[in-house]
Amino acid sequence: MRIDILTLFPEMFTGFLDGSLLGAARASGLLDIRVTNIRDFAEGIHRQVDDRPFGGGPGMLLMPGPVVACAEHVVACGLPAAPAEQAPAGPAAPVILLTPGGRRLTQEVVEELSRRERLILVCGRYEGFDARVRTALGAEELSIGDFVLSGGEVAAMVVVDAVCRLVPGVLGDEESARQDSFSNPGRLVEGPQYTRPREFRGMAVPDVLLSGDHGKIAKWRHEQAIVATRRRDAGPSDRSGEPSTNQSPVPTKKAPELTARAVETTPRSVP
Ligand code: ADE
Repeated sequence: MRIDILTLFPEMFTGFLDGSLLGAARASGLLDIRVTNIRDFAEGIHRQVDDRPFGGGPGMLLMPGPVVACAEHVVACGLPAAPAEQAPAGPAAPVILLTPGGRRLTQEVVEELSRRERLILVCGRYEGFDARVRTALGAEELSIGDFVLSGGEVAAMVVVDAVCRLVPGVLGDEESARQDSFSNPGRLVEGPQYTRPREFRGMAVPDVLLSGDHGKIAKWRHEQAIVATRRRDAGPSDRSGEPSTNQSPVPTKKAPELTARAVETTPRSVP
C-alpha cells in the first residue's frame, strides 16, 4: 500500500514512521509511506502558506495554491506511466483532508481505507483549509473525533497506524487483528484478558480461562465483550455494564447473552 502524507511539519513523522511495526513493514516493502512538505510548493521568497480569512475572523487559513499544487504533484508521482488517452478521468487517488468536521473515523472506515491501494493524507494547520482545496482536489474529509487538534498531523498518524495494521502481512498474525475490539461482527469492545501470574494482589484469573474448555471460553469471552461494550456506552452515572439508553451495537432483543454480568473485579483469593 502506498500512503503519502502532506504536511508543513514533516519532522513530526520521523520517529513515528521508523518505529517498530511501521518501520519493519516499510523496510520489507509492504508499505510505501512518503512525507512531503507543503511549503516546498509555496511561492515567493517567504514561501507563504497561510493568510487571513476573507470576511474577518480569528486565525489564519491554509492558502489553496500550495496545498493543491503539492497534492497534484504527489498524485501524479504515484501514477504508473500510461498514455494520455488511457489516463483515468477524475482524481487517480483518493485525497483525504484531515479536519475536525470530516467523516468520523471508525473501525469500519479504517477497514474500508485499508482496502485501497493508495491514500493521500493532507494535514491542516491554523484554522483549516481554504474551502476551494476540497473542491479542486475532489477530496474527502476525515475526522478522528469530536475535538480540535492543533493540526492534522496527529490525526494522520492515527489513520496510518489503524489502517496499516490491517494491511496483510504487517501484523504478522492476521488473527489478532480479527479479534481486536470493533473488528468482530457485532463491533464489540474486547473483554478482559489475563496472563501470568494466576493470582495478582489477591485477584485470581477467572476459572473458565483455566478450564481448557474452548467452547466455554469462547462463550465467556463473548459475554464479557457484551458487558464491556455496554459499560463503554453507558453514561458516566452507569458503569455497571447494564443496558443503557445510549446507542449501542449490542442487540437489544431478549437473548440469553443479555444476562451476562461483568467479570468479578473485587479481589478474591485463590483457593
Ligand atoms: N485537525 C484538527 N482536529 C482534527 C480532528 N479532530 N480530526 C482530524 N483532523 C483534525
